[in-house]
Amino acid sequence: MAQLPDGEPVPDTGVLPESALADVGGRGFGVYLHVPFCASRCGYCDFNTYTASELGGADTEGYVEAVLAELALAAKVLPAPPRVDTVFVGGGTPTLLKPAQLGRMLEAIDGTWGLAAGAEVTTEANPESVDPASLRELRAAGFTRISLGMQSAAPGVLRILDRKHTAGRAPAAAIEAREAGFEHVNLDLIYGTPGETEDDFAASLAAVVGAGVDHVSAYALIVEDGTRLSARIRRGELASPDDDVAADRYLAAEAALSAAGLGWYEVSNWAADQAARCAHNLLYWRGGDWWGLGPGAHSHVGGVRWWNVKHPAKYAARLGEGLSPGLGREVLTEEQRHTEDVLLRLRLSEGLPLDVLDEAGRAAAGQALADGLLEPSAYAEGRAALTLRGRLLADAVVHSLLAW
Ligand SMILES: C[S@@+](CC[C@H](N)C(=O)[O-])C[C@H]1O[C@@H](n2cnc3c(N)ncnc32)[C@H](O)[C@@H]1O
Ligand code: SF4
Repeated sequence: MAQLPDGEPVPDTGVLPESALADVGGRGFGVYLHVPFCASRCGYCDFNTYTASELGGADTEGYVEAVLAELALAAKVLPAPPRVDTVFVGGGTPTLLKPAQLGRMLEAIDGTWGLAAGAEVTTEANPESVDPASLRELRAAGFTRISLGMQSAAPGVLRILDRKHTAGRAPAAAIEAREAGFEHVNLDLIYGTPGETEDDFAASLAAVVGAGVDHVSAYALIVEDGTRLSARIRRGELASPDDDVAADRYLAAEAALSAAGLGWYEVSNWAADQAARCAHNLLYWRGGDWWGLGPGAHSHVGGVRWWNVKHPAKYAARLGEGLSPGLGREVLTEEQRHTEDVLLRLRLSEGLPLDVLDEAGRAAAGQALADGLLEPSAYAEGRAALTLRGRLLADAVVHSLLAW
């Protein structure tokens, strides 16, 4: 079957090249489900999400029906994939939907492809959008893992980020989640927010450690173009995040989390043990296959990447007419696949096999080793794995290994 040129809309019959379908499952198979609703928009966020006034007539029931319709089309494109190893429901705010609505879509995913025994099933949640009863319902619906957007324990930082929850709500929700039977609980932190002090971030780290979660993600604040945060910085109301401050915060995170028994396994992610690592994200980072359901969701199967229309009303309208919600797709070139491989796998503690690199890349790895950016023991075993200093300079190491 001929490959489609870059960017050509996905045909409504939704076919994939045979080359992409070969060995589906050999690389792991996951499902991402995007829930594009938020009660209000945080000033720093440019995710594909809509508040009530922006929905243009779309509603959550229509959304659930549309997702089920996309799943029916997906079953024709991937009729007999392997079982689903991981499901990740992200947003937006998935927990703006009722647990029963989330459970219905999860059941449909299981009914379409079948969840593997012991599959990891995660939902993201805003701390103020869950309570002990809804957490128990989510657990009963089949969710095994929950990821709560805490961001900070400092009230002033939460205010600058436009977060609606109090400082104590996220750790409290994490404890409630464990009591509801969640095996794995993650708290997300953002560091380097303008106005955040060293003490503020130390308090955030103490709070995640005190909550006893088995996973923490900590990301430096990114100022995305077109957001309210970026406009406020441009107007001089807030300072720009500072790279040196971000590096200090990262070192503080590593010190506090490792002292609490959480080890890094990806530059921005720490886990208590192997079982606590996010299998869904590992599948992305290791080049696995996944189907992305929902408005704006991206998918990847065997080197073919495609993405859906972004607005929930348009997404539902397309599916209502029996059409694919796909907006475009590209077949990755060998070079693009290599670049992604290096970019993603170098950020993992397990590192990147040196034999993936070309000659110039291997020479650059030798230089990175000499500069103290790669671990000597891993290097001796044929892998490029970042040292702590290397993690601070991960982007620069990637650039050098790709000889950009
Ligand atoms: C898109 S949110 C979805 C989860 C949920 N709505 C929430 O905010 O808690 C997932 C995570 O992305 C991170 N995030 C979003 N925008 C970011 C930005 N501009 N810079 C750094 N992290 C960001 C936050 O840590 C957030 O918890
Ligand atoms: S709640 Fe989460 S997804 Fe929604 S706007 Fe805020 S950061 Fe973005």
